[in-house]
Amino acid sequence: MVISIASQKGGTGKTTTSISLSAGIARKGKKTLLIDIDSQANASKVLLPNYPRIAVGATIHATILKREPLPIHKTSVPNLEIVPSHILLSNTDIELTTAIDHREARLKSELDRIKGQYEYVFIDCPPTLSWLTINAFTASDKALIVVSPGYFELDSIVQISKTVKEVQEYFNPHLQILGFLFTMSDATLNTSTSLQVLRQTYTEHVLKTVIPRNTDIRDAHMNKQDVFAFSPKAKSALAYQKLITELFEL
Ligand SMILES: Nc1ncnc2c1ncn2[C@@H]1O[C@H](COP(=O)(O)OP(=O)(O)OP(=O)(O)O)[C@@H](O)[C@H]1O
Ligand SMILES: [Mg+2]
Repeated sequence: MVISIASQKGGTGKTTTSISLSAGIARKGKKTLLIDIDSQANASKVLLPNYPRIAVGATIHATILKREPLPIHKTSVPNLEIVPSHILLSNTDIELTTAIDHREARLKSELDRIKGQYEYVFIDCPPTLSWLTINAFTASDKALIVVSPGYFELDSIVQISKTVKEVQEYFNPHLQILGFLFTMSDATLNTSTSLQVLRQTYTEHVLKTVIPRNTDIRDAHMNKQDVFAFSPKAKSALAYQKLITELFEL
């Protein structure tokens, strides 16, 4: 199963969800691949201790621009491998915009060759609706949309839902929404109002599990670890475990 983790808004918890789901599932013995397609390369920097020494040619940049096979690296988490990203990917969108040949399917054509080796593939998307996100959606079976509290955050769902529909129509009729995941939940009125609006508007898609705002997540990343390794009893670790059970019955 190939799952894109996306939102149009920045900083909603996409990368955190990508790291936590992929590491959590890999720790259960399932062979898992995380593809980082965001030029910020945040997931790559957490999961690859030697990230600064990885050349651009050994990142997703080579696949998107040069159509080379996906460069796969081992992580420190057992059963979890990663295709890292690179800052130069930020220039790619302009090149893809002017490319005429299957610019939406560069990731898919390489991923299709290797995805049979994995039980789960996650793609950490950038916070923009670019050709990179379209590549991720074209290569995916499912899209997990991450939403954090706030008016702008809720508003961004309209746009991402439209992009999912357009990709379904033009590039990938199999793509389905896996769900809307509410993250960074806390005891404020803003959180309860946002969650209420989300549940009223998108009832059937909103996942039961809600991820709390919890500093252990930030500390784990600072320590270059996933939250299960850093603090398995943290509120956020328990919530991500609940999410894994809700989504995958693991
Ligand atoms: N549940 C949480 N509680 C507290 N902090 C969190 C939580 N989830 C994520 N964070 C922190 O919030 C920040 C943004 O999270 P993250 O990088 O996962 O979001 P993102 O959607 O991937 O951002 P971008 O759009 O820039 O790619 C990070 O510093 C992260 O450590
Ligand atoms: Mg991110």
